[in-house]
Amino acid sequence: MSSPSVSALLERIAAAGKAYEKTQEAGTREDLIDLGQSLVAALEIPSEFIQRSFWSEPAKSAHIRLAVDVQLFQHLRDAGAGGLAPEELASKTGVEVLLLQRVLRHLTSTKVAVFKGGKWHGTPLSDGLAEQKYQHSISFCYDVARPSFNGFPAYFQATGYKQPTFLTDGPFQAAHQTALPFFDWLVATPPHLAHFDSFMSAYRAGKPDWWDFYPVTERLAAGFAPGADGDGDALLVDVGGGRGHDLAGFARVHGAHPGRLVLQDREPVIAAAEKSDRFEAQVHDFFTPQPVRGARAYALHSILHDWGDAEGVRILENLRPALKRGYSRVLLNEIVLFEETPTLAATSMDMMMLAHFAVKERTERDWRAIIEKAGLRVVKIYSLPGGGGESH
Ligand SMILES: C[S@@+](CC[C@H](N)C(=O)[O-])C[C@H]1O[C@@H](n2cnc3c(N)ncnc32)[C@H](O)[C@@H]1O
Repeated sequence: MSSPSVSALLERIAAAGKAYEKTQEAGTREDLIDLGQSLVAALEIPSEFIQRSFWSEPAKSAHIRLAVDVQLFQHLRDAGAGGLAPEELASKTGVEVLLLQRVLRHLTSTKVAVFKGGKWHGTPLSDGLAEQKYQHSISFCYDVARPSFNGFPAYFQATGYKQPTFLTDGPFQAAHQTALPFFDWLVATPPHLAHFDSFMSAYRAGKPDWWDFYPVTERLAAGFAPGADGDGDALLVDVGGGRGHDLAGFARVHGAHPGRLVLQDREPVIAAAEKSDRFEAQVHDFFTPQPVRGARAYALHSILHDWGDAEGVRILENLRPALKRGYSRVLLNEIVLFEETPTLAATSMDMMMLAHFAVKERTERDWRAIIEKAGLRVVKIYSLPGGGGESH
């Protein structure tokens, strides 16, 4: 199939731009970004592609990682509209002024920072990146994920170009010279667990959450019926919910919900979770029987995709005895891969799975197979407005 012409793309960009400015509807911003990337792909010649992909982008991410260590974006943000002269910024960061200028020039040409009136200034992007959850995400992606991706060519050459099949011998293990599964390594290798948990709370920030497009009132709150024996007084259990970012967000939007909210995760994750008066936190291994019985709903957000089919079925089977027939719902929030038209969000996540868990993102057919194998029934698939392939 031939690529669309530049003029056809420009027409689509103009139309998408108008839709974005007029409606700000979910998905219009993402459409524009996608079209912008198609435009670059249509215009860029191979030498430019190599320069951008293999020098400019790697140097940019290295500078952004360095920026975390020296709090560069925080200093620019705190300086506000006045900005900072090179010497002032050098003294605050401890980076030699000439090196700092070279780093910042590259961050300026790649649109992360601005130089104006002899001073460096932050941008909405760099100010946003200064937030702790993004600082931790940068460290996780650079220190943990990136070495796994860099090692793909050597890893796959050594394995005869076959997909990894075990949780303990994938590209992640080769890059970090460990035999531990990813989640165990995070615990054993500080500060990566803390960085990963922040990354989990940040990697989709700014996108609609499942409670924005799932009919919470009709399907969860309306029929809520706590059991007389104490069973069933939970509205929602977030299984593998990290430090509780989803439950905190849910409680913010659905403050008047009935019933308890329960967060479950592994012991080191729960130990690091901030105490909340909105939900209770509980240590629970999802490979063991679910202790909260008869809840209205059990949410599993980005859980099953970390595991192969057999483990996925086991996780669901461990939920089943706790479910009240005709009442409890299992809410799976996962990417559904469209084979013909995969999105960047879906394929990027698929690469994370390939690198770290020896597993893959699933198509609708794959999902139905493991859900049915666990003895559950798909009631309905709700799609994230604006695509991205995430479903519920
Ligand atoms: C990909 S993260 C998803 C976190 C959160 N649900 C979200 O979507 O942001 C997977 C979560 O599963 C947790 N986890 C891994 N193994 C677990 C186990 N055996 N029992 C309970 N939680 C586990 C991890 O600690 C992590 O918080």
